[in-house]
This record gives sequence, structure tokens and C-alpha cells, in this order.
Amino acid sequence: MTTSTAPHHDVVDIGLADVGARRIEWAGREMPVLAGIRRRLAKERPFAGLRIAACLHVTTETANLATALRDAGASVALCASNPLSTQDDAAAALVAIEGIAVFARKGEDRDTYYRHINAVLETKPQITMDDGADVVTLLHTDRKDLLPHVKGGTEETTTGVIRLRAMAADGVLAYPIVAVNEAQTKHMFDNQYGTGQSAVDGILRATNILLAGKTVVVAGYGWVGSGVASRFVIRMRRTSMPRHPDQDRICSDHGEAISQASRSGSETVTARARGGTLRSTPTMPSMTIATAGARQNRGTYW
Ligand SMILES: NC(=O)c1ccc[n+]([C@@H]2O[C@H](COP(=O)([O-])OP(=O)(O)OC[C@H]3O[C@@H](n4cnc5c(N)ncnc54)[C@H](O)[C@@H]3O)[C@@H](O)[C@H]2O)c1
Repeated sequence: MTTSTAPHHDVVDIGLADVGARRIEWAGREMPVLAGIRRRLAKERPFAGLRIAACLHVTTETANLATALRDAGASVALCASNPLSTQDDAAAALVAIEGIAVFARKGEDRDTYYRHINAVLETKPQITMDDGADVVTLLHTDRKDLLPHVKGGTEETTTGVIRLRAMAADGVLAYPIVAVNEAQTKHMFDNQYGTGQSAVDGILRATNILLAGKTVVVAGYGWVGSGVASRFVIRMRRTSMPRHPDQDRICSDHGEAISQASRSGSETVTARARGGTLRSTPTMPSMTIATAGARQNRGTYW
């Protein structure tokens, strides 16, 4: 069932709304914390009259977030932070059934992507919700005229937080932003477990290959990389992780990194390996970077 007065929008096919609504409801069943927050905020309505511009993955999960914000009193406009993750049926349901303004088309090109961010900004938001800092960047460049309306914002991801920290260090960040990515639960559930699972799922859907016996190379061993490695290891016990030269500095800051990497994969290949390969074993769980470097330079294999 669709509403008669759909808000301003740009989605692929509004006829997908009923399918999208069923999938949004399905995703919501796995989101009990948000459901609890929604019940409380729907009574308190702390966001009454607030205009929120969100640039996030337009998925069934984000749809639940958008409707929870709406139930808390906010007027929400949503566009896609990643054109490839947009679920067109969820976008249609938000517009046609929930009355939320959505500007997102799966696979949209660069011009459409920025047209959609601009469309969301046309609502003169007071709060921004970003996943990669593109809304904040546009507000601080082409749409500075809108900055006086903005009270604050949130940023979801590692890359966005890095961009914002650089802006803050340069003294140009014009409003306060909560770095959601700094929350331990965000690191664990999204970056590590969530993206780890999604990577496996995406590769299986795109290639339809048998994973057994394949070697997977994970570039970068941070939160996401470690999650991706561990999801693949569950299936095949063989993962390689080439590392960035900066990793040495990171390892000395966080000495556990390489020992964690060695526990995840049966082989750990470093960017400085010079032909050497470090093989972790159950008896070497607490290998340090110093030990690793020394053995590596002698070309030792375990
Ligand atoms: N759902 C999603 O799509 C999603 C979710 C979370 C994070 N992310 C994105 O994933 C990326 C990683 O996030 P994270 O939280 O794991 O960050 P992180 O800082 O924990 O890890 C990044 C790692 O990459 C390494 N690295 C940097 N440059 C490298 C290079 N050239 N070669 C090899 N390694 C290199 C760093 O040393 C570090 O270990 C970010 O871009 C983040 O925004 C996406």
C-alpha cells in the first residue's frame, strides 16, 4: 500500500515499494536495540521539528534507522553514500509508504551521486549523518551558504573520520560531529564482523565459485581486514595478508597486530617480506614484530 502524497524523491521504481516494505520489516526483526530506542523516542519525540540529511548505505537496515528518526519527530532526507549498495526496493518503500524523501538509484553515476547529495542538502538540514564525509565536504565547499543552519552531525566510517580530523586540524570544520566509528560496538559489529561477512557474501554472489582451496589476499589488517580474514579462514583455513609499510609503525604502536594477523591466517605475508613468508603455528601465538622482522630478514620459514 502506498501513500497518496509521496515526498520529493528520485528512486528507480516506486512500484518496488511493497517488496521493499516486507524486506525492511524483516531486517527490523534483527535490530532489537534500534526497536527499543524507537519505542522510547516515539514517545519522547526529542527530534520534533528537526531536519536531518542522511547520506548512508540505502539498505533495509538504514530504512529502519530513517523511520526511527522520523518517529522521533525528525524530518529525514536520505541519499546514498555508496551507489553500489543501494537497494532500490527499500528506497521505494521509504518514499511511497513511509513518506521519507529518498534520492538514490543503485549504480548511479558520479553526476547523479552529487545531484542526490545536493537534493538532500536542499532541505536545509540542521543535522547531517555521513558515511564517508561527502555531505560535510560539500557543505564546506560548494554549499557554504547552508552551514549556518547546521547544528551538528555524525560520521560513520574510518575514512570519513580521517577526513574530518584533517579538516579539524586545519581549523576549517565548522560544526561538531560525533565520530560514530570510534565506538567499540561500531568497530566490532560493523567493521569487523559485518563487513567481514558482507565481503564473503559479495564475492560468492558475484563469482559463484567454490571457496575451498582458494587463497584469499586481504590488503590491510585493520578492523575490516581482520574481520574479512577471519570470515574466510572459517571456510578454508588459508588467508594471506600483505601489509602496508606503515604497518611497522602501527605494529609498534599496537604490538598485537601482527600476532593477531598470524592467528587469522595460515600464512602472513608482509609488505617488507623480501621473499620470506611467516607461517604462524599454534605454538607461536604471541609473535612480536621484532621477532618477526628478525626471522624474516634471515629468510626463515616456519
Ligand atoms: N560497510 C562498509 O562498507 C565499511 C564499514 C567499515 C569500514 N569501511 C571502510 O573500510 C576501510 C578500512 O576500515 P578499518 O576500520 O578497517 O580501518 P583501519 O584503520 O582499522 O585499518 C586500515 C588498515 O589498512 C592498512 N593500510 C593502509 N594503507 C595500506 C596499503 N596501501 N596497503 C596495505 N595496507 C594498508 C593500515 O595499516 C591499517 O592496518 C575504510 O576505508 C573504512 O571507511 C567500510
